[in-house]
Amino acid sequence: PLQAVIFDLDGVIADTAVAHDAAWRQLAAEIGVPFDDSLGERLKGVDRMGSLALLLERSQHAYSDAEKTALAERKNTYYKARIADMGPQDLLPGARAAIESARRAGLKIGLASASRNAPMLLQRLGITELFDYVVDASRIVHSKPDPEIFLAAASGLGIAPSACLGVEDAAAGIASLRAAGMTAVGVGLHEALADADVLLPSVAAFDISIFKTDSNGELG
Ligand code: BG6
Ligand code: MG
Repeated sequence: PLQAVIFDLDGVIADTAVAHDAAWRQLAAEIGVPFDDSLGERLKGVDRMGSLALLLERSQHAYSDAEKTALAERKNTYYKARIADMGPQDLLPGARAAIESARRAGLKIGLASASRNAPMLLQRLGITELFDYVVDASRIVHSKPDPEIFLAAASGLGIAPSACLGVEDAAAGIASLRAAGMTAVGVGLHEALADADVLLPSVAAFDISIFKTDSNGELG
């Protein structure tokens, strides 16, 4: 049966997917890289250097490692400026209620975020205490779509992956969940989330009672 829910942060709990997207678009414009919505969708959920690599696939210029590090830091500066004033008002509608309903149902709550800014963002949103275990990108080697981050969260919670359900807004995250052997819930109505087991329009539609399990431990 279901014993834990592991949430992604950016675009699921916090209204920050747009801030990441805007920061990448700003950098792309400055270095002359064409940026469209499909690239934006592919960058979601992917860690900082991985995202930069996807962006630079479209560049004519060969950047050195030092230049790439500087570009990634520049993007992070733009991102941090956009989230500087964020607080509890920047939780996505229904996000806190979704986490609390899962807690009340007796489930463990984890966070699996590719963002190195995740711990600071949780503090600003005022929700650090709602999580039993948090994994951010600085604690793992392989980024989403690799399953490592969700498996690390399950292990930290002490729950088998098959008893975990994950909530994601990105294709890379859904792929990571599936590879981890977890139930994958997609939030947002993108074609990119077609591989999710369950698709919800937003986290506001997340109701833990939907996922009640029967006596065989199957989702009901
Ligand atoms: C993910 C976001 O949560 O974190 C990505 O969906 C972002 O857009 C990634 O690139 C890494 O974030 P950061 O804050 O470490 O640059
Ligand atoms: Mg996300």
